[in-house]
Amino acid sequence: MAKPKKRYVCQACGSVSHRWQGQCADCAEWNTLTEDAPATVFSMKHDLSSGGRAVDFVDLDKPGEMPLRQRTGLAEFDRALGGGLVPGSAILMGGDPGIGKSTLLLQAAAKVAREGHSVAYVSGEEASGQVRMRAARLGLCDAPVKLAAATSVRDILTTLGQMETPKFLVIDSIQTMHSDTIEGAPGTVSQVRGCAFELIRYAKENGVALVLVGHVTKDGNIAGPRVLEHMVDVVMSFEGERSHQYRILRALKNRFGAVDEIGVFAMAGDGLEEVENPSMLFLSGRDQPLAGSSVFPAMEGTRPVLVEIQALIVRLQSGATPRRAVVGWDNGRLAMLLAVLESRCGLSFSSAEVYLNVAGGYRLSDPAADLAVAAALVSALADKPLPQRSVWLGEVSLAGEVRPVAHGGVRLREAAKLGFDRGFGPPDAKNGSAELQYGELGQLANLVDRVMSS
Ligand code: TYD
Ligand code: MG
Repeated sequence: MAKPKKRYVCQACGSVSHRWQGQCADCAEWNTLTEDAPATVFSMKHDLSSGGRAVDFVDLDKPGEMPLRQRTGLAEFDRALGGGLVPGSAILMGGDPGIGKSTLLLQAAAKVAREGHSVAYVSGEEASGQVRMRAARLGLCDAPVKLAAATSVRDILTTLGQMETPKFLVIDSIQTMHSDTIEGAPGTVSQVRGCAFELIRYAKENGVALVLVGHVTKDGNIAGPRVLEHMVDVVMSFEGERSHQYRILRALKNRFGAVDEIGVFAMAGDGLEEVENPSMLFLSGRDQPLAGSSVFPAMEGTRPVLVEIQALIVRLQSGATPRRAVVGWDNGRLAMLLAVLESRCGLSFSSAEVYLNVAGGYRLSDPAADLAVAAALVSALADKPLPQRSVWLGEVSLAGEVRPVAHGGVRLREAAKLGFDRGFGPPDAKNGSAELQYGELGQLANLVDRVMSS
């Protein structure tokens, strides 16, 4: 018999290579390839066109039942999920270690259990005692959650088959699970995939809402949850800076709803608190205007959130390569804005270090923030504060034009409600409020003129 060919699987993206390489050829991550069990090769003559069972085809217009959602009672969690848990669905909850995934899920599990539903929480990372201690700290000890510490998927599924089927099942985390039918250590791509497959099948067959926790880590030894994204119905990401209090729960994929709503939480001494009105959270609340700081009216689903953007420019004396460091925004987009400011507006950043920070651990991905970032940069460069109580919005094109953005009116109205009295942005943004004075900026150069001449 021919020796099975060795294969190497990237632990970040799951692509297979027959040779070990330092860098994955597909996702370009470094040191993520590890040896995996050889793939089973079936004979090419194997004919699949007979011997199977008939598959039912139905028409698209056939009235199907809409999935009934089960609210967890944790309103921000339900909101991010698009209304609640769907029975027979699988949710992948990704996030950095220590961000609060276990805390969030224990709180959600307790809420569902208190409603009288059967809930099981399986921890592969912590002993039952540890989870109980956390529950005590969160004041949840009285909730009838069934708790187990286990890592064998066979043990877990056997036990679940012998008890009342849970409505809600949490597996914390999928990287600690292992299946004895698959080779390899827990956390490798084949184990993670295989275990998830078995658990998801159990959930679909039994109408269980399943949450799989998956740590996102740069460390190539643990399979990234990306290899699971196509297998689950919902991918959630729990984000935030560990040093900050605020956490944002975001759906990256949702087969049952929209992905534009977020849930906002604050990590407190006794667990995660829901933040119902997040619009002012990410502002520093200072009265004195400061050079290099601007406010951007972000939209999170249907809720506007005002976010402070801070820029710092440090002139370098020597010819050393200047640093550009960004927290909470895209590196490439900052480079693009700096290039546009240089080539279209004649500003020079080439001998200066540029630091950009989005306050409060918030992560911005909306291109509508371009103008606010540019305003912070220009203000920092000129060392002149922007007008007090002003908000900035608009996308900046490579040609240096300020482009319209979605929901301009709603954003401005919300800013006005929160005491902002000036708005700046593209010419055709509808002014949503009479109290807010709107300044039209067609070109990025108009912004530069404004700030420099103030
Ligand atoms: P945890 O839920 O264990 O994170 P994850 O499961 O994502 O790895 O929570 C991690 C941190 O949260 C922990 O370092 C301490 C903090 N924390 C609080 O601040 N308050 C609390 O009530 C709890 C339970 C945790
Ligand atoms: Mg945890």
